Amino acid sequence: MDAPFIITLDGPAGVGKSTLAKRLADRFEIAYLDTGAMFRGTAWKLGENSWDWEADRIAQALKGLEFTLSGSGSGSCLSLNGVPLTDEIRTETVGMWASNVAKIPAVREYQKIAQRLIGETTSLIAEGRDMGTVIFPQAPCKFFLDADLEERARRRFLQLQEMSKPADMNELIEQIRARDDQDRNRKVAPLRPAEDSIIIDTSNLDIDGVFNRLVFETEKKFN
Ligand code: DC
Repeated sequence: MDAPFIITLDGPAGVGKSTLAKRLADRFEIAYLDTGAMFRGTAWKLGENSWDWEADRIAQALKGLEFTLSGSGSGSCLSLNGVPLTDEIRTETVGMWASNVAKIPAVREYQKIAQRLIGETTSLIAEGRDMGTVIFPQAPCKFFLDADLEERARRRFLQLQEMSKPADMNELIEQIRARDDQDRNRKVAPLRPAEDSIIIDTSNLDIDGVFNRLVFETEKKFN
């Protein structure tokens, strides 16, 4: 069997990573790893204010978490302790909880091991904040997507609406701004493009335009 190959897709909240990662996974018939969902699932399981716990308590709680990935393409299914993660974790509130726990070095270390373990056996589109810089630095194909804050809030608004989770646009802009600031400025594995990543500003591109560019660049790397 060929060694698994990894495509990394990093960028801030609301840039369209999940939608694009699923489409890419379908296109290349490989699995899709949503590492944001791993942080969201962790925060959801540990609960509100867990980011203020003592280190021992956090370490103990992390031992009780096991993530598994099954399936392929947009049908890839991420489970926590055997239970598939659902839209319950998709609110902006849980997003902020995830960003809060994501600052804790022990949580990042735990996630690094879990994510690399999945990548050892499975070809992946790995989507998150530090896929290209920290988790899979040897990945042959790395992308970093960006877009204006307002445009990202608009995209997230539509996404939440689709999940029947209505949001207030101004509140969303502030929530995403706060989360981005925290993700970009944390000490461990801050959000930033890997030096060898292809950076795409998607502010003025539609989803098909970005998708086609990603496919083109990926095929170029692998052909
Ligand atoms: O991609 P998302 O919005 O579902 O991510 C939720 C939070 O999880 C994000 O604000 C920061 C954290 N995260 C991270 O620190 N590293 C990753 N690789 C993915 C997500």
